[in-house]
Amino acid sequence: MTITKQAPSSLTQHGPHLDRFKGQVAIVTGGASGIGEATCRRLHAEGATVVVADVNGERAQAVADSLGQNAVAQQFDAADVSSIERLVLGSIERFGRLDVLHNNAALTSPALQAQDTNAIDIDFGIWDQIMGVNLRGYLAGCKYALPTMIAQGSGAIVNTASTGAFSGDITRMAYTVSKAAIIGLTRQIATHHGKQGIRCNAVAPGLVLSAGSLANVPNVIAVMQRHLLTPEIGVPDDLAALVCFLASGEARYINGQTYIADGGMLAHNPAMADLVDLAAQHA
Ligand SMILES: NC(=O)c1ccc[n+]([C@@H]2O[C@H](COP(=O)([O-])OP(=O)(O)OC[C@H]3O[C@@H](n4cnc5c(N)ncnc54)[C@H](O)[C@@H]3O)[C@@H](O)[C@H]2O)c1
Repeated sequence: MTITKQAPSSLTQHGPHLDRFKGQVAIVTGGASGIGEATCRRLHAEGATVVVADVNGERAQAVADSLGQNAVAQQFDAADVSSIERLVLGSIERFGRLDVLHNNAALTSPALQAQDTNAIDIDFGIWDQIMGVNLRGYLAGCKYALPTMIAQGSGAIVNTASTGAFSGDITRMAYTVSKAAIIGLTRQIATHHGKQGIRCNAVAPGLVLSAGSLANVPNVIAVMQRHLLTPEIGVPDDLAALVCFLASGEARYINGQTYIADGGMLAHNPAMADLVDLAAQHA
């Protein structure tokens, strides 16, 4: 028997399921870059009216302009609760409803991450700054979105956590704790409001090639790749596909869950890559 090797499946083979979000309104925070931008593009391609929300208003505008009709940019700062209130309530006033909230913005700058060290050295100001954007910002998004979603009898919230929530690391103390707390926040929202028609789930990306991750880990990408169980490193579209599935009616029986998309990084023995090298030496 001859076995024909197939090319790895490409993203273009798995395009948007048109119309899953027709007539729906979605807000994506951190929508100007990376995973958020890819999610804006996919939601829009599948019929949603999308609010591209980001602290970088210029870049958010460029994304909204490139999408065209049914996309608007909104500058806001996730560190500022009143700014989040204006984003959410303003979008609801403008479009008359809110179906999807993707809480995704996070502080990813290398300069800040360099100060996000360990329990002994971390400055409480840095801790508060990271928790403010990465965690309180997500709570605030939920706080202002939920009353409208409950009144509608439906709404889907998808929070971006990280695989950092599941394993220790030698960097990013506050970032990692904020991402673990997002999993708790996700379960709490689902438990409090599931019976009112609200679904709240989280995605936990591993390494995904975005502006944020490339700025932080350019020289560790090859190291990380050795530990993946997939041929390729993930790209923002891989996460957008998962976010949109969880936000869509196809996931109607899924609530309070966190889905890992990390190329299998957390699925295996942490020593795997070293053991493969060892086996090669003795072969
Ligand atoms: N890329 C990865 O490898 C990876 C891995 C795990 C988790 N994540 C998470 O995925 C999410 C998106 O990350 P990304 O890699 O696409 O990052 P990115 O840096 O490409 O995008 C993040 C966006 O958030 C915006 N933002 C930052 N601070 C903000 C604020 N105060 N208010 C509003 N917007 C703000 C930025 O302007 C940027 O557009 C983040 O929550 C990140 O923690 C990413």
